[in-house]
Amino acid sequence: MIVSQIPQHNSIDAKDQAANEAGEIVTRAIKQVRSMSHLLHPPLLDEVGLLPALRWYLEGLTKRSGIATSFEVKPADFPRLTGDLETAIFRVIQEALTNAFRHSGASKTRVTLSQQEGQVMVTVGDDGKGVGPEIAEMRAGSLGVGLAGMRQRAKEFDGKLRLTNTNPGTLVEIVVSAKRLLPVEQHTTA
Ligand SMILES: Nc1ncnc2c1ncn2[C@@H]1O[C@H](COP(=O)(O)OP(=O)(O)O)[C@@H](O)[C@H]1O
Ligand SMILES: [Mg+2]
Repeated sequence: MIVSQIPQHNSIDAKDQAANEAGEIVTRAIKQVRSMSHLLHPPLLDEVGLLPALRWYLEGLTKRSGIATSFEVKPADFPRLTGDLETAIFRVIQEALTNAFRHSGASKTRVTLSQQEGQVMVTVGDDGKGVGPEIAEMRAGSLGVGLAGMRQRAKEFDGKLRLTNTNPGTLVEIVVSAKRLLPVEQHTTA
């Protein structure tokens, strides 16, 4: 550790240099922790809602990974949802995209968000290597915490998670009940 070695340096210059380096490392670490906690709970999500938060996340993903992302929303005036549903949807999309990034080798992903007939539908598709049948069928023991968590979140909102090998690529689909939908006026004046 640089900091613990500082007292052992015998020249003032060496001490200064080590202290400067240690300072830079701390600054970098603080930056990393900040951006990690923003990824875990983006302030945008509470303030401006799901759509801008997703656009921000997709932009960041493309910057970090080089994976092209497209995002479609229907209807264009997609309503604000309750905070817990918006958070759940954000997390599910984030996890699906993280999986596409970590496991699929995809060059493109496509996210859609739509609302109709009392339901909200989310799809995340990639053009990567696809998932095997044991994962698509969600056989016991084949899911990691990511997919299990996605399925759990869907369940909490009376919904379902489906994984399909679209050959090429993977399609993740989540449908949740929109009975917790809130009209935008109620949400913003609450
Ligand atoms: N989009 C994807 N493309 C290819 N494989 C995937 C994709 N999503 C998930 N997988 C596979 O499913 C497994 C389980 O995913 P997950 O439950 O999120 O756990 P983890 O990401 O921690 O491995 C992954 O290890 C990977 O093999
Ligand atoms: Mg995962």
